[in-house]
Amino acid sequence: MTSLEHWAAVDDYLVATAIRPDAAYERTREASHAAGLRPIEVPAGQGKLMGLITELAGARSVLEFGTLGGYSTQWFAAAVGPQGRVTTLEYEPRHAEVARQNLDAAGLGERVEIRVGAALETVRELIDSGAGPFDVVFIDADKANNANYLEAALRLSRPGTVIIGDNVVRGGRVLDDSSTGADAADVAGIRAYLERQGQDPRLDGTVLQTVSGKGWDGFALAIVREADAAAAG
Ligand code: SAH
Ligand code: DHB
Ligand code: MG
Repeated sequence: MTSLEHWAAVDDYLVATAIRPDAAYERTREASHAAGLRPIEVPAGQGKLMGLITELAGARSVLEFGTLGGYSTQWFAAAVGPQGRVTTLEYEPRHAEVARQNLDAAGLGERVEIRVGAALETVRELIDSGAGPFDVVFIDADKANNANYLEAALRLSRPGTVIIGDNVVRGGRVLDDSSTGADAADVAGIRAYLERQGQDPRLDGTVLQTVSGKGWDGFALAIVREADAAAAG
């Protein structure tokens, strides 16, 4: 087996044996693929981990950058509970439409607000309208803007807010200086995000590399600290 086949087979085994997501998640994944959306949603194990983190944090409000068909959104919406709310930002109206159908079908639609538009603009509107602070933020839209989204997320956070950034390894391309075009902009955005996480005194985090049927990737996880307390160590 190639590594990708092996990673995918082990991931399938873990999902079927130990992770066992509710069938409603598979329905959203399949409906998204059937609608022609790219199969780039988080793996089930990562979706479940983010749901567990949301529960562990006692989170009631989640902000997501990048909805796609609502697969990751669904994990957050389930985890925030009936009184919780998820605000998710999506550029493509068609993706938002598919996500709306999926989340309604899962019985979670009332907990989710999908804001359609370029996330830099819709997040600016959230900041200007005094929204937040959010308990959990998931950054998973266009990677070139990752550091800008992290900056905006900090403005919508409080000490204790959890900020997760997807796709920070990208098959190892995070180290690749020879990327060109859109890929170079993505790598630059990912590196700026990671450097900011490492250097901003308000952020204290880690990064985990992952393998799955989606290949080799990783996600960053940080908690927002009081700037002074973080500086004092
Ligand atoms: N979080 C989803 C996957 C998101 S894929 C999951 O794991 O299930 C990335 C999404 O970001 C795509 O739907 C894409 O249309 C959207 N996107 C790309 N550029 C964007 C932008 N500038 N603003 C908002 N969304 C954007
Ligand atoms: C891509 C985007 C993602 O959010 C992801 O998890 C994997 C791939 C992409 O745009 O290629
Ligand atoms: Mg992603």
